[in-house]
Amino acid sequence: MNQAFIVTKEHRRFTEFANAVRKEKTIGICHGAAGVGKTNSARRYANWDALEPYINEWGPRGDHDAKHYALANRSRTVFYTPEVLCRPKDLMHDIDHWQVKVGICADEHLRSLSPDAATAKQSDVTRLVELLIIDEAERLTPTALELLRDQHDRTHLAMILIGMPGIDERFRHYPQLYSRLGFSHHYRALGREELLFVLDRHWKRLGRTLDPDDFTDAQAIAAIERITRGNFRLLERLFPQINRVLKINQLDTITDDVVEAAASILVIGS
Ligand SMILES: Nc1ncnc2c1ncn2[C@@H]1O[C@H](COP(=O)(O)OP(=O)(O)OP(=O)(O)O)[C@@H](O)[C@H]1O
Ligand SMILES: [Mg+2]
Repeated sequence: MNQAFIVTKEHRRFTEFANAVRKEKTIGICHGAAGVGKTNSARRYANWDALEPYINEWGPRGDHDAKHYALANRSRTVFYTPEVLCRPKDLMHDIDHWQVKVGICADEHLRSLSPDAATAKQSDVTRLVELLIIDEAERLTPTALELLRDQHDRTHLAMILIGMPGIDERFRHYPQLYSRLGFSHHYRALGREELLFVLDRHWKRLGRTLDPDDFTDAQAIAAIERITRGNFRLLERLFPQINRVLKINQLDTITDDVVEAAASILVIGS
């Protein structure tokens, strides 16, 4: 499942959006359909695949520290996913925990550059974090939203709330939060060119070469485009099934019939 991250146009748009929210020290909302890649983009922006396990371990220091300190200093971002039914107090406590840890890492990096520039107090370390990204933001209760807004007012910490389409409408019901929103960003599915790029990779992984000018390939591409609508998760779920259909039927070529058969096994075909 875990294919290499592809720097798509949407990811670049997300990066620009995140940089803007951070620069303006405001609150931004990122919304988009399930499976288009919101979480992946945000984790990538925060270097979270490297930082999260490092901070969770937090063991004796070693050779790999400097690399993580530099990553933390570069991203200065905390990525956080609230639990379902999380208690607002726990949420704030967790966020504080991550802020301190990322702050300490960034501070260590600054210390390594110039020992005098480093900050001594924990509260100052926390301030090194410039952006908080909260995924699955529909899980936040009104109280949690109020606490976050309060933190934003006190510390001017930039925040991005990520959720499904409609989350921006939901936030309209919280005028105090809504009036502080700086940006709303729609995360879209893959466009045609990028879909072709991703399909090319999938074809290669199945040991084949994709040629959009070839009639059969063009038909298969059209079927995939129609079924997945450029949605990353649907693409990922479709390809193992395509592989299965090819094997079971001892076929060599990915045709639109193969694609349809694969989609019919999943619940995404209709
Ligand atoms: N840029 C990318 N490069 C490669 N694979 C990606 C990329 N973005 C997303 N994916 C794949 O697509 C799947 C769905 O992505 P992701 O979980 O980020 O979607 P999401 O928009 O957060 O969905 P949800 O709304 O359900 O949380 C992931 O499992 C991931 O493997
Ligand atoms: Mg997600």
